[in-house]
Amino acid sequence: MARTEVPRKPLEILTQGYQHFRVLATALEFRLFTLLPANGATIPEIARLVELKERPTRILAKAVAALGLIEKRGNRFRNTRLASTYLVEGRPQFYGDFIRMMDRRLYHAYERLGWALREDKPVTADPAVGDVFRTMSRDPEVTRLFTMGMDAAGRYWADCLARSLELSGTRLLLDVGGGSGVYSIALARRYRRLRAIIFDLPAVLPVTRERIHAAGLGDRVETAAGDFFADPWPPGADAVLFSSVLHDWSPETCRLLLGKAARALPAGGIVVIRESFSDDDGPGPLYAAMSSVTMLLETQGENYRWSEYELWLKETGFVGFRRIRFPTTAASGALVARRR
Ligand SMILES: C[S@@+](CC[C@H](N)C(=O)[O-])C[C@H]1O[C@@H](n2cnc3c(N)ncnc32)[C@H](O)[C@@H]1O
Repeated sequence: MARTEVPRKPLEILTQGYQHFRVLATALEFRLFTLLPANGATIPEIARLVELKERPTRILAKAVAALGLIEKRGNRFRNTRLASTYLVEGRPQFYGDFIRMMDRRLYHAYERLGWALREDKPVTADPAVGDVFRTMSRDPEVTRLFTMGMDAAGRYWADCLARSLELSGTRLLLDVGGGSGVYSIALARRYRRLRAIIFDLPAVLPVTRERIHAAGLGDRVETAAGDFFADPWPPGADAVLFSSVLHDWSPETCRLLLGKAARALPAGGIVVIRESFSDDDGPGPLYAAMSSVTMLLETQGENYRWSEYELWLKETGFVGFRRIRFPTTAASGALVARRR
């Protein structure tokens, strides 16, 4: 190789990115990780478990192993720790519902990225209905797919939030656009005196109520149906949470929602913004930059920088900012501030 030759490997790996994702999503669809026994299985055994012929099973198993999700010992394949923690159905940190949601809702939307870039318009929202959330609200199955996808993505981050946020003096948390309630549920588990209200569109709340019931928190976590633009916000909160909500909207709308939060809170009340934040300088982190592309395909928003949120918080009456970066995840954290 000539000394000046540029290795092509990074580009080759990038080009296969969509294959990596589809192999992962398809292995999940075949329930490979859930069906693999703890002591592993041979290719003929896996073929029987996933109900495929041996040749496709071997190809799938090798690809999934090359991705680092299963490992081969002797002639048996078993889940790696990563897969057994996050890809086995029924495990507390099951991430598969997020992968499924990305696969079924967004994989094809990404084919229209060029259109979205040219038009500066979302592809998953029906303009005749309104924004993407109103569009999804029309179809209970899609609403469930989305809400459970967000729930699965949120479990890990909700645990990080509950570990890093001090809420022992807080009585009532208003979880604005709270979806499945995954954050309120984690916070209510950690803080035994905390009550929470999940405020979201009516179509989402049947899923939310199921999650609250499954967590056994029906006495402290409740739901309120409404439109956070048009309807009055439930009163009495001394903390407001926005998780993955502000990145759905334009800067003007973010300021409007933060202003509503300020009016809903008493002096000293807390606002928490949980997001995949963009760095103040530079383009990353990669996960936030890619999430911004998803926002282009779905919404009017993007993954804003920490400093942009701080500016909007200042303008709407908040002080005392604290940035919390969650460790061991691609990009997620919380920005906490106090009502002046
Ligand atoms: C990206 S999801 C985030 C859900 C949840 N906070 C989480 O982090 O998993 C955005 C949420 O905002 C809700 N939402 C969007 N527009 C809304 C509106 N006008 N009024 C109330 N909720 C709304 C959606 O239904 C959805 O549950």
